[in-house]
Amino acid sequence: MWNTVIVYLISTVIALVIYSRWSRRKILAAVANMNGPPLLPLIGNSYILLKFTTTEAIYHHLKNFGNYYRSPVCIHIGPALHIFLYSPEELQVMLNSPYCLSKSRHYRFLRVDRGIFASPAHIWRGQRKSLRVSLGPAIANASADVFNDKSAILANRLELLADGKERDYYHDIAKCTLDVIYYTALGLDFDMQRTQTGDYYLGLQDEFVDIITRRMFSPTLYPEFIYRWTKSYKREQEILRSARQLTYKIMQERNVEEKLKSVEVQENPQEPEVINTKPLNFLDSLLQLSRERQQLTKEDIAQHLDTILFAGSDTTATTMASILLMLAMHPEVQEKVYQEVMETCPDKDQSVSLDDIAKLTYTELVCKETMRLFPVAPIVARVSTHDIKLNDRNTIPANSVIIGAIYQVQRDPTIWGPNAHLFDPDNFLPEKAAKRHPYAYIPFSAGPRNCLGIRYAWVFMKIMIVHIIRRYQLKTSLTMDSINIKYSVLLKMLNGCLISIEKRD
Ligand code: HEM
Repeated sequence: MWNTVIVYLISTVIALVIYSRWSRRKILAAVANMNGPPLLPLIGNSYILLKFTTTEAIYHHLKNFGNYYRSPVCIHIGPALHIFLYSPEELQVMLNSPYCLSKSRHYRFLRVDRGIFASPAHIWRGQRKSLRVSLGPAIANASADVFNDKSAILANRLELLADGKERDYYHDIAKCTLDVIYYTALGLDFDMQRTQTGDYYLGLQDEFVDIITRRMFSPTLYPEFIYRWTKSYKREQEILRSARQLTYKIMQERNVEEKLKSVEVQENPQEPEVINTKPLNFLDSLLQLSRERQQLTKEDIAQHLDTILFAGSDTTATTMASILLMLAMHPEVQEKVYQEVMETCPDKDQSVSLDDIAKLTYTELVCKETMRLFPVAPIVARVSTHDIKLNDRNTIPANSVIIGAIYQVQRDPTIWGPNAHLFDPDNFLPEKAAKRHPYAYIPFSAGPRNCLGIRYAWVFMKIMIVHIIRRYQLKTSLTMDSINIKYSVLLKMLNGCLISIEKRD
């Protein structure tokens, strides 16, 4: 009897292995030239995920794929094919391919899959055309006053904390970036820096990101019907409900529902007109999008607003925190930035103009070098909608998840030299930059679906730096070796922005 059961089980497993290989024969042939860890029958490389117990483990694993295997690296998680790209040439092909414009399923976990950041390519095209007006260079230039006002509030608040003791300043910076985004995108002044709302919102955001990160690295939780049974799902929904209350309150304040009702979709939309006029803010451009291209619902608008708060605020705050930490860690670099700032706009109460910003060339090198070592988006993950020819050797099959390893490329010693892991703003001197592949450095991603807020982020960050550096000296006990990376939805430092600040005379 037992013999029969065992023979039956073994035959079933063999049949399944043969069937699985046969049904995937085309895909396996297509990726035969690619490197990767050994494949086990049926489960492929899923065993790798067992080691993903912490975000640091994930970071080390991703790093190691690139070190051990030549790009592209192919990983089979169950039936899904994941292709990791570690070379600038391949990233260029990926990010410019018209068949690689849709985000991978992981972005859906953010629950904003109708917002511009995660939407599928066919919806995204119209959104991008309409929304670039309200996030592009024109709004960044028009928003310099807001950037100055809110950065001055941050700098004043820091005076209360300038006691020379080390603490994590991330939340202080993040409240400033939230204030700015709310103001420029929605025309509302919440003054999060001086009220309790900011702490409450950031607490929700941190918890949400932790939950989503855990899900991203647990494929067993990918199917919604399984995930719905978990405690994480319940908590995620509670957080979303609380955050949405705030979003709906904003929408009510701006009469969004009434405005949506009065919107009629135009038959032949015109390109948005921005020349010589103050550009529309984000919320108004959403209403324009609804009128011109896609009828939006209240839920659509809420998703767009949540998207922009996350895409615009957390990214900028995290990058700013890293910049301040790098300045604190490298006093000689901080001194050069201070000198440049004092030559450009020395008066502590003086607003920073767009002309001033253009003169802050060394400060720009410092920001670039920080974003090289600590890109907030360490990877970009897309899905191929057709086969994509990477090069003469490799073609990525349709329906693969493609992961562009920005973090690894930006630290690759074959590109950046043996000191690639060290902080050196001179890496971005024009003569050095000219010798590198343009896709060796892409903290804002690249190609048609790159970051929409590049100019916005640049103007805002430089203004914040001026307001802080001309008033305070930054110090830290952290060293480059003691920094621990947290690989979550955004790349963060586990140590936080641990600095002490002292008032300058
Ligand atoms: C230092 C700050 C920032 C960095 C490093 C950054 C980086 C990025 C990256 C890497 C992407 C592409 C993600 C992907 O392909 O999966 C992205 C997308 C995006 N970012 Fe940023 N970002 C920053 C600030 C901002 C700001 C301030 C805004 C708006 C005010 C913004 C708006 C967006 C939007 C709307 C997208 C989606 C674009 C699309 O899918 O068409 N970002 N950002």
